[in-house]
Amino acid sequence: MTKKQTKPAGLPFSPLDPFAPQNKAMLENLQGNILQGHGRNFSANIFIQFSITGKQLKDLISKISVQYVTSAFQQAEESKYFKRFGIPGSLFGNFFLAATAYNKMGVGKDLMSAMFKDQDNVPPGAEKIFPQSDSFLKGMTALGADLGDIPADLSAVDPAAIASLPALQKWKLFEKKVITEEPELEPLEKAYLKLDGLQIDAMLLLADDSEPYLLRETRSFVTEFEKLGIQVVAIELGKALRNNEGEGIEHFGYVDGRSQPLYLTTDFEMGNPRKERINEKAFRKESGDIDLWDPKAPLEILLKEDLASNVPGSFGSYFVFRKLEQDVLRFSMAEQNLADKLKLTGKDRERAGAMAVGRFRDGTPLVLSSTDGFLPGKDNNFRYDGRDASGNPNPRSVDDSLGLKCPFQAHIRKTNPRQNVGEGEDGDQSRRITRRGIPYGERIKNPNAFQALDDLPTGGVGLLFACFQSSIVKQFSFMQKTWANNTGFKVSSAPGQDGSSPETGIDTLIGQSSQLSGAGGNPDHNWRKEYGGHHGHTSLPDVGNLDLSHSHPTRFNFSNFVKFRGGEFFFAPSIPFLTQS
Ligand code: HEM
Repeated sequence: MTKKQTKPAGLPFSPLDPFAPQNKAMLENLQGNILQGHGRNFSANIFIQFSITGKQLKDLISKISVQYVTSAFQQAEESKYFKRFGIPGSLFGNFFLAATAYNKMGVGKDLMSAMFKDQDNVPPGAEKIFPQSDSFLKGMTALGADLGDIPADLSAVDPAAIASLPALQKWKLFEKKVITEEPELEPLEKAYLKLDGLQIDAMLLLADDSEPYLLRETRSFVTEFEKLGIQVVAIELGKALRNNEGEGIEHFGYVDGRSQPLYLTTDFEMGNPRKERINEKAFRKESGDIDLWDPKAPLEILLKEDLASNVPGSFGSYFVFRKLEQDVLRFSMAEQNLADKLKLTGKDRERAGAMAVGRFRDGTPLVLSSTDGFLPGKDNNFRYDGRDASGNPNPRSVDDSLGLKCPFQAHIRKTNPRQNVGEGEDGDQSRRITRRGIPYGERIKNPNAFQALDDLPTGGVGLLFACFQSSIVKQFSFMQKTWANNTGFKVSSAPGQDGSSPETGIDTLIGQSSQLSGAGGNPDHNWRKEYGGHHGHTSLPDVGNLDLSHSHPTRFNFSNFVKFRGGEFFFAPSIPFLTQS
């Protein structure tokens, strides 16, 4: 159901025209990358611990921000020139602060609490799930057991599964003396666990299209500022991967960044960099219609007033960063094993992986087509409940309430059920996060090229997952814990009902049990050989004539290919706050 937009103090309606004079001040005060992705191919994510405090620290933060932070306005201007003349933007910079940075600056408890208590944002009924609504104040480590990053229960350890556990989980076992061999931790993991006196106070993100230039800028930042009161805890380098069409993909080989909430009128300008601005009608023609699923989103799900700024009407956003390692070899083997188990042959074999993700590698949504390339791969105009963007039944909208086309455990169905899931009006739409992640790690071959098994990495590559939102509790944490990690969450086998089922299983890509992985925490998933309840290659919404007699689900466990390797909750403060001293 589409939420009626109500206008909170100081927040304009979206989509917002970044070049309208009345929006200029707000965009000059807001950091870039929030309303639209920075789009650079390379990024350096520099994790910082401050060794100074108080006014001295505030001045240092101001110096770094003046030198490196790009405003939303500057970003919009640069992308205008890129679109018109193909001129690339300058070095891009974001500066994010963790709660500990505010403490070190000496920001008072009352202001901290007024600013960062997420109390108002906890949905009715969810208080028990998230007793600490102040996740930002406590930091990501404190929520570790809640999110499944570190196990809540160390008793049920399966000795056979220990070798394949994530390093952070092994560390907990080592700490409790369940195992004797000390696991090797990465610097980011050590800082996440606060070992060796390390902690993450801030993150500077630098991004550019030239890798050597970015690395040189990163080095000069480190040399200049290490003398002035920072310690660099870890540097994570991001590197975009692209398919033959130039679209961003992730290491399993699937198009990523396709379904996003959109906030700017300029998001509807499509085409090559030199194309003039075109209108929304043309966007729909090129990118698919938006009558069933409307990507336009209100700024309330993204921005939060920066109460610490001395300029009224300054906004920031919560930023969640997670380093997620991908085991590409085991994921690819599971795709093949599932295809074998379901006896899928020929082109149908591609459907095994598509059932895990919810889209084929080229982005074709599985709920709309049983094969890839069948529809414009970019299509995002779909739901699973036979309704349209206003929540009304619509014959052009596929009704897959039984999960016979796109399984309930598919990553994109778990993380965006695209329907009301019983938490009141607009329950799902306001959970949307704004993703800004980038792959990391080197590959022998690009995921889109032909790969022998030997070419596939088991680690060292993955996603530097990042997302913006106005509430960590209500959006990222809820999505990870209550949807992705929840073995029962499947959304509606009957329209209008929550339809939880213990057989759904966790999200195939990112689900994590709060028990130790591989220790019985992840039940098998249901999979079907027949697309839509019968065998066929149709994209028609045909659930009216279901023949379920051939549709016995096959049980197969498809999980644990993504491992959490550290991260933190940050706030992206407004530019006036960052630069005031
Ligand atoms: C969509 C991969 C982590 C939330 C997608 C898509 C892919 C993908 C291939 C489909 C393309 C698209 O719609 O943009 C991955 C991989 C991950 C990962 C490989 C980890 C290594 C996460 C995490 C979250 C998340 C940690 C949040 C907790 C989403 C959301 C969508 C999405 C919200 C869009 C769903 C929609 O609107 O239909 N992801 N993802 N992803 N992912 Fe992830």
